[in-house]
Amino acid sequence: MDKIVVRGGAPLQGHVRVSGSKNAALPILVSSLLVGGETTFRNVPGLMDIHSILDLIAELGVKVNRSEDAITMDATTIACVEAPYDLVRKMRASILVLGPLVSRMGRAKVSMPGGCAIGDRPIDLHLKGLEAMGATIRLEQGYVEAEAKRLKGARIVFDTVSVGATENLMMAATLADGVTLLSNAAREPEIIALADVLNGMGARVEGAGTPEITITGVTKLSPVEARIIPDRIEAGTFMVAAAMTGGDVVVDACEPKHMEHTLNKLEQVGATLEVGVDSVRVIGPKTIKNVDIRTAPYPGFPTDMQAQFMAMLTLADGASVIHETIFENRFIHVSELKRMGANIVLKGNDVATVKGVKRLSGAQVMASDLRASASLILSGLVAEGETVVNRVYHLDRGYEHIETKLRGLGASIERVKG
Ligand code: EPZ
Repeated sequence: MDKIVVRGGAPLQGHVRVSGSKNAALPILVSSLLVGGETTFRNVPGLMDIHSILDLIAELGVKVNRSEDAITMDATTIACVEAPYDLVRKMRASILVLGPLVSRMGRAKVSMPGGCAIGDRPIDLHLKGLEAMGATIRLEQGYVEAEAKRLKGARIVFDTVSVGATENLMMAATLADGVTLLSNAAREPEIIALADVLNGMGARVEGAGTPEITITGVTKLSPVEARIIPDRIEAGTFMVAAAMTGGDVVVDACEPKHMEHTLNKLEQVGATLEVGVDSVRVIGPKTIKNVDIRTAPYPGFPTDMQAQFMAMLTLADGASVIHETIFENRFIHVSELKRMGANIVLKGNDVATVKGVKRLSGAQVMASDLRASASLILSGLVAEGETVVNRVYHLDRGYEHIETKLRGLGASIERVKG
């Protein structure tokens, strides 16, 4: 297994370009299943999770063509409606094929995704929504089987705001008979991006980005070409890296409008920002100010930025309270950060009090989930001495060549093939 070795101390300087959004690309690539023809997407990031979803889509009989700057899929015929365990276990977002397959083919059999490091990750909202649309759902031998002659429009009120359930049911509703209302829907930019692609295919989705989304079913969707929006979490990760190393970095090809809460928190810790149309310059503060953070569904503070901000706040001038409200186990990075000298006290599994220390020391640390791994790399950028981050396959799921991009900003970092 590969490792990444970081030597701390260099303030990051220069320009870094953000890749396409993993969390926009995954549902958008899956939406190709709804179209009896070709769909082409550009600016798709080269990530492990993207390769996994494309392997699954190909497994269903879709012709997938990956060129340098575009992914083309031809779902004229779907030969199989089963997403097998060995593919789904690699990437839980595979559950997103359920809605499109039932809607287009009348049937789907998808392995239950199961939990992951950050939580149990249930899919009850996905299944309840499909049942409300007339699907029969059977859970057998670790698989979800869903069937419906033709889904019918329904009014679905989500108990919890769920990005995946909103995406799954929005896609399912595009070919349903009648009107579907998704209430208490997720409002992430990735939801709007998916709705734009679906409408480009001829679907009728209104209200994406608000808590109430209305989808009027149509009988057929047509081929589309689209470009994936920038990854707001990758962009935020580089901005935190600039701020905590006291650097001066311009993050290019990003979408500042998708990052208001992150930018606001960066200013609160003392960073100076110059916000452009598709770039943000971040000048790190001499002293990092302590700030409190409470994660929330968009447009609140993103849970996917929590670990990165915690890494920065371990060096703040004072104590910060971080409340993780989305996932039940998203503080796995705490024990590794403490091994580097951080002073963090947990209350239950959702509140962390981070007392700033003068310095961190490099150490051997273990990556556990995608964003926790990023927080360990960030800490290595400022720690005294060498930090070795093990099991970096977690990182490769969501960051495209992170060590190359950071080295381009002056970091002393390399990957050791394992
Ligand atoms: C998406 O996951 C993202 N992944 C996650 O990013 C992100 O952290 C999360 O949304 C929240 O913003 C992708 O888009 C591929 P949810 P998702 O359904 O859709 C509960 C990353 O690092 N819930 O919005 O799985 C759930 O347990 C990843 O890039 C139910 O109870 O998240 C959680 O507490 C990590 N029942 C809350 O809702 C359900 O049926 C939010 O989960 C579904 C979810």
